Amino acid sequence: MEARSMLICIVFACDLIACCHCNYYSKTSPYTPPAQKITHLHFFFHDTISGKSPSAIKVAHPSFPTAFNDTPGPFGSVFVINDPVTVGPEKTSQVIGSAQGVWVSTGQEMLELVVTMDIGFTYGEFNGSSISLMSRNPIALNQRELPIVGGRGKFRMARGFANLTTRFFDHVKGDAMVEYHVTVIHY
Ligand SMILES: *[C@@H]1O[C@H](CO)[C@@H](O)[C@H](O)[C@H]1NC(C)=O
Ligand SMILES: *[C@@H]1O[C@H](CO)[C@@H](O)[C@H](O)[C@H]1NC(C)=O
Repeated sequence: MEARSMLICIVFACDLIACCHCNYYSKTSPYTPPAQKITHLHFFFHDTISGKSPSAIKVAHPSFPTAFNDTPGPFGSVFVINDPVTVGPEKTSQVIGSAQGVWVSTGQEMLELVVTMDIGFTYGEFNGSSISLMSRNPIALNQRELPIVGGRGKFRMARGFANLTTRFFDHVKGDAMVEYHVTVIHY
């Protein structure tokens, strides 16, 4: 093969290879969602900051006094959580999963957090599935609502809301136990 046609061949082959990878998207088409289902969940969430094996750890805090400086979570502090979730209010009742995520203390007028967490289930029908929550959480209010913004496994494409009621709160240590009534709409 003469050099010129050889070059053309190489350029052409390169184009072919490049073209195999040149679309990073599919054709957009109408979407027909499958029928949705509704599931109600009820469980208890244990947030332990104190003691030798806390499930919530403060990983950052402001270097100068801020709002709520006299609490375990002054404005600007950040916690990483891996909190057990149980079927009953007692910590010793069946563990059905865990809540993993990040809590940021964001309130200046009242004690509030912004939470980003995944509540993953390890027991029963929803073992291996999880719900994702991302919201402001005004913990100073005894009752509050957090949105479900997604989920994994059986809760894929989930939407919904969680009603939270604080059942126990130690103002000095910061430990808390919260009851969750969750409504999940999913595929
Ligand atoms: C949950 O699922 C995992 C992975 O499939 C399995 O190993 C485990 O035994 C299951 N646990 C329960 C309590 O069903
Ligand atoms: C959640 O709370 C709202 C009002 O706070 C109430 O209307 C609703 O019935 C509650 N839903 C569940 C599932 O607990």
